[in-house]
Amino acid sequence: MSDIRIAPSILAADFARLGEEVRAVDAAGAAYIHIDVMDGHFVPNLTIGPGVVRALRPHTKKKLDVHLMVSPVEPLIDAFADAGADILTIHAEAGAHTHRVLQQIKAHGLLAGLALNPATPVGQIDEVMDLVDLILVMTVNPGFGGQAFIPSQIKKIAAVRSLIDAHMAAGGQKIELEIDGGVNIETAPLGAQAGAEILVAGTAVFTGGPGKYAENILNLMGR
Ligand code: DX5
Ligand code: ZN
Repeated sequence: MSDIRIAPSILAADFARLGEEVRAVDAAGAAYIHIDVMDGHFVPNLTIGPGVVRALRPHTKKKLDVHLMVSPVEPLIDAFADAGADILTIHAEAGAHTHRVLQQIKAHGLLAGLALNPATPVGQIDEVMDLVDLILVMTVNPGFGGQAFIPSQIKKIAAVRSLIDAHMAAGGQKIELEIDGGVNIETAPLGAQAGAEILVAGTAVFTGGPGKYAENILNLMGR
């Protein structure tokens, strides 16, 4: 599991000190900075817009991994791209035009991600494998931090791992496999063993304050 990387979700950070929090998790070993964008419509919570992404951009050189829990998402892609996102992940359930929106993200020269809610079948990714740089398997229902990991998603993680391996073995582009929700020291190894390589973690990284971030990240990496 030594190649496991952690993407702290700043949803669990101190929102009054977001710049400092991003610098702290960067220094503590974050691979990406995961930013949860919620619209109060696709998910029952309202969080961060492109202005905050723009404000955080100067605080880290790590990739800003922006998870768009938003519907419709098309009208916001350009704003998040201009704000300095590196990865834009959309939900397969967020609209009828997944293929077009992934193309829109790629046209900005960004990495494109596709997220699957717990009830969404793996087959949703088949027709867009050539357009994605990242597949995000949700291990909770999106909307809130601090929820419990849904064990039924382990077999989905393994199924997506097989699809990605087959795709790359056939000469396809690199695709990363990320999981998000309820990742802690008990569930991180389950996700990693099933084939996830990037673990998003909010609560498990930010618990204990800045003095704990490096230790929390190493623990999640299984070190
Ligand atoms: C859930 C978000 C997650 C969330 C993870 O909708 O996408 O990124 O912040 O939080 P924890 O790690 O606390 O489950
Ligand atoms: Zn997320």
